Amino acid sequence: MKILIVGSGNMGKTYARSFLASRFVTPQDLFILEKSHEQTETLSEISGGNVFDKPGLFISEADVVILAVKPQDFPVLAEQIRPFIKRWQLVLSIMAGIKIESIINQLGINRVVRCMPNLPAQIGMGMTVFTSSAGVEKKELFTIQNLVNTTGKSVYVEDENMIDAATAISGSGPAYVYYFMEAMIQTAIKMGFSPSEAELLVNQTFMGAVHLHNQNELTCNEWIKRVASRGGTTEAAVKVFNALSVSDEIEAGLFAAYNRAKELGS
Ligand SMILES: NC(=O)c1ccc[n+]([C@@H]2O[C@H](COP(=O)([O-])OP(=O)(O)OC[C@H]3O[C@@H](n4cnc5c(N)ncnc54)[C@H](OP(=O)(O)O)[C@@H]3O)[C@@H](O)[C@H]2O)c1
Repeated sequence: MKILIVGSGNMGKTYARSFLASRFVTPQDLFILEKSHEQTETLSEISGGNVFDKPGLFISEADVVILAVKPQDFPVLAEQIRPFIKRWQLVLSIMAGIKIESIINQLGINRVVRCMPNLPAQIGMGMTVFTSSAGVEKKELFTIQNLVNTTGKSVYVEDENMIDAATAISGSGPAYVYYFMEAMIQTAIKMGFSPSEAELLVNQTFMGAVHLHNQNELTCNEWIKRVASRGGTTEAAVKVFNALSVSDEIEAGLFAAYNRAKELGS
């Protein structure tokens, strides 16, 4: 199976490296189209013969074409590759906000899988939500899922609108976690820890809490109850969060991301 990745920036490289590390794709079957030499120079895993800086006939030979350029670069790219792309070719887009219909129209193709990965894909801990146009066969969807799962876990959704919801939850999600972590780190420093100690305390607390949660059936609320004894320190903090309606504020933030994702895609 020949795979072509178009755009070898953060995500394109992550995909290339994950496919090769998992041995799901061999270096001979992996092709890159990337206009920036700076980017391709750092891709030593792929032989120079498989790396192109201009569109050409190699595009027509790929079984799967992965679009990993910035959404604003897609119209120009579409014009460049349209003469080479065949109607039957399967295209996987990871571009945020570009609808399947628009990809089909701009490339003159029939079948598109669209996915929304997130940053931890870089370390094999990504979360990807994906959907597809009509005409993509089950067998092909499994192939795409196998490819995507080399970067972490994935969920298939029937309704393309759920990709906007996924953008707001798992796509942007790592930034919300860092936001909460940063607030805790700054507070720890105010309480007297050095910056490095504060970071260690907070990092390890997040990691421990998530792993514990993953290894058990308890819900987040049940875990909160386990940590917070009546009249204790955790309860004091949670009472303040509740009084300030922190969870409502978080919901408002996530819906702002959701609405923005819908706006960008319209
Ligand atoms: N980063 C994330 O966490 C994340 C998460 C979910 C989805 N995504 C999506 O993933 C896509 C890629 O994001 P990224 O962060 O990897 O972007 P990036 O680092 O900018 O990589 C895109 C690469 O594509 C190259 N490129 C642009 N136009 C091209 C063309 N016509 N032909 C060949 N190469 C071209 C760019 O070169 P130049 O730099 O020279 O323009 C750049 O090296 C975006 O659509 C984004 O929405 C990213």
